[in-house]
Formats: sequence, structure tokens, C-alpha cells
Amino acid sequence: MIKDIIKNLKPSSTLLINEESQRLEKEGKKIFKFGFGQSPFQIPENIVNELKNNSHQNKYLPMQGLPELREAIASYTSKKKNNNYKAENVVIGPGSKELMFLLHILFEGDVILPAPSWVSYAPQAIIGRNKVHWIETKRENNWFPTGEEIEKIISKNKNKNYLLFLNSPNNPSGQVCENLDEITTVANKNNLVILSDEIYSELSFDNGFKSISNFCPGKTIISSGLSKWCGAGGWRLGYFIIPHSLKEITNKLKVLASETFSSVSAPIQYAAVSAYQNDYSNYINNSSNILKSVGEYVYENLKSNDVIINKPKGGFYLMPEFTNKNFSTSSEMCKTILRDTGVALLPGSDFGCSEKKMLARLSFTDFDGFNFMNDFNKNKTIDLNSINNFAPNIIEGTKRLREWSESV
Ligand SMILES: Cc1ncc(COP(=O)(O)O)c(C=O)c1O
Repeated sequence: MIKDIIKNLKPSSTLLINEESQRLEKEGKKIFKFGFGQSPFQIPENIVNELKNNSHQNKYLPMQGLPELREAIASYTSKKKNNNYKAENVVIGPGSKELMFLLHILFEGDVILPAPSWVSYAPQAIIGRNKVHWIETKRENNWFPTGEEIEKIISKNKNKNYLLFLNSPNNPSGQVCENLDEITTVANKNNLVILSDEIYSELSFDNGFKSISNFCPGKTIISSGLSKWCGAGGWRLGYFIIPHSLKEITNKLKVLASETFSSVSAPIQYAAVSAYQNDYSNYINNSSNILKSVGEYVYENLKSNDVIINKPKGGFYLMPEFTNKNFSTSSEMCKTILRDTGVALLPGSDFGCSEKKMLARLSFTDFDGFNFMNDFNKNKTIDLNSINNFAPNIIEGTKRLREWSESV
């Protein structure tokens, strides 16, 4: 009774690794949760209070989202990106993931996915019955596709529409996309729309985060939300900013929203107005500084001749490659690492990389974000001592991984 297209979808190995971790934990084994990517920080108190103050909001809201919230997001983004977005460019959804899903449903054309990329893009494209073209990216290109690689796919049939997913800072590689000029040139020459997944952009480690929306605004949909920078993944609030030139996408997205989730929870939308209207730059800077220090600690202490890593540039992740290890698949390697060391990682194959490459995603969020943030607020410095105090699992897990990598 299940459709073939759904039958073939497997549960992501994120879940499998979690189940295996829980099983080992029950047996009394210490697990280092480097597999799961969730903000270690608490939601700013003011925003939580706004949710409490708005718990009485009981009406369905407009399907495109609460006008004040769309206004706040448009103005926040316009300021950040020196653009001129309006409330009508914004669509609010129950997480950006759901909006991406609806985009796959409405889009007529082929989807271009860089490998590695986030686990949900490909299954969503399959459910949306769109053909997927993978681009196997290279470390020396920061794990992002080049203009030439994108063009090579498009040139096979220039009459089709194409949708490229570009996620920067990236899950799983932790890298930021720098070759925006050349990607823009390809977009401008072809029927190419870019979904710029900027869910980690507030958590860039250097101030100079560049969005493709600044290079080709008319062809870029910005996707973001509260989940990562605000520590509010469970609130399920995401948004798209869609330029006027892609208005037909906005219109049909609204129809699909109205036929599925109707509108995002009203109290959450009212509370989110504060997240975009008020200034949380101190909280965001503190979060980024802490993540940067912790990420760099892992990078410095894990990289070796046998473990190649690009230094993380933003978000929660880095992507080690264990060059001296030879398992039949990266998934088998991650299972062995979990069993031998207690460190949970996700295999690169989950992110579209060849399973023969011994790549894994390491999430450096297994630490006490609340106390780390309070300490940083007080002392304004992060040193080995603070990492020791607030991120002992990071230190111990990194050490165990390092030792494992050396045990040939
Ligand atoms: C790259 C990327 N995009 C999108 C999402 C989904 O975010 P949301 O909570 O807004 O659905 C995630 C969450 O893990 C992610 O890592």
C-alpha cells in the first residue's frame, strides 16, 4: 500500500546513529554526541518572554505569515544585505525544511545538488519527482561547485529549468562559498534559480559572509529561520525571501501552504517578531565566538597527516577525512568509530559523498552552551581553560578520535 517512490526512501542514518548511540549508552558506554547538529545555546530570554506573552494568540494567521513578522524579517535582511526586500517577498513556514519541501513539489525542472550537502535535499527532490544531478565537489574548492561544473550539467539541456541548492556556511563541511561571481555568471546565462540556504549565516566566524543574493538577487531565494542562530530548532519557524522576479513561486507556495500547514503557530510568529526587530547582535556574536573557538580547537587537535580537515568557517560542523583508514564504506567506518571510541559521527555518504571516501561529519556542539555563554559574557575571553570547563566532551572526544586515527 506504499507508493514505490516512498518505499525506496530509507530513514536517514542520523537516526540510525542516534539509535545505536542510545543502545550503547544504555549499556553504560560514554557517548560523545558529535553526530547531532543542534544549537548548544538557549533561546534569548526576551524572545522566550515574548512567547509567554503571546500564548493567548489563538487565531489562524495569514497563510504567507504574520505581516509584522514578514515586515521585520524583510527589514532585518535588507539592512544586513543592503537590499530592498518587502514584507510581500517573505513567506513564513514551520521550519525552512517544510518550505524547501513545498518548493520541490511546485518546481518543474531538475535539481542540482553539490556533494556534500544537507541530508534532506535529495529525498525531498525525489518526493517532488525532480531529477537530481549531483556535483562531486573538491576540497580545494572549499567543497563547493565551480561555475564550470554547474554549467556542464545545464549545457546538456538548456531548455530545462534548474534549481541549485547552495548552503553557506555549509552543513556538513563548515565551509563558506567564495566563488559567487562565477556561479552568478552561469545563473544569469541560464534558466537557473538558486536556493541559498543561509540557515547558518548568522553564525559565520568571520564578518565577511557573502550571500549569492547580493550577486544575483533576481534569481536567488534566501532560506533561513530561527533554528540555528536563535537556538530554537524546536519552535519550527523558518522563512523564504523570494524576489519579485520569482513571484509565481511565492504565489504557488502560498497555495501549497494553505493546503498543508495553513499557517505557522500564532504564538511562535508573534514571538519571532522580537527576534528580528530587536538587536540580538551581542548574543549572536557570543555564540559565533564560542563556536569558532570550539571548532578551531577540534580542527587544531584532530588534523594530522592522516586526518585532513578544512578549517571551519561557520556553523556547527567540520568534515574530517581519515586518509589512512580503509573501510568498505564511510558508514562502516563511523560504526567502528562509535564502537571503538564512543564518538558518534555521521558518514559522508549521508551527504551525497562517495561511500568509498572516508569522510565524516563532526558536529562540535556537545557542550554546555548556557554556562559557556555566561562565562564569556563576564570574562570576554575564551581560552583552553574555558573549553576545559564548559566543553569537556569536546576535549575528550577529540582526543579519542585522534588516538583512533593514529591506531593503524
Ligand atoms: C543546512 C540546513 N538547512 C536547513 C535545515 C532545516 O532548518 P529548519 O529548522 O528551519 O527546518 C537544517 C537543519 O538541520 C540544515 O542543517
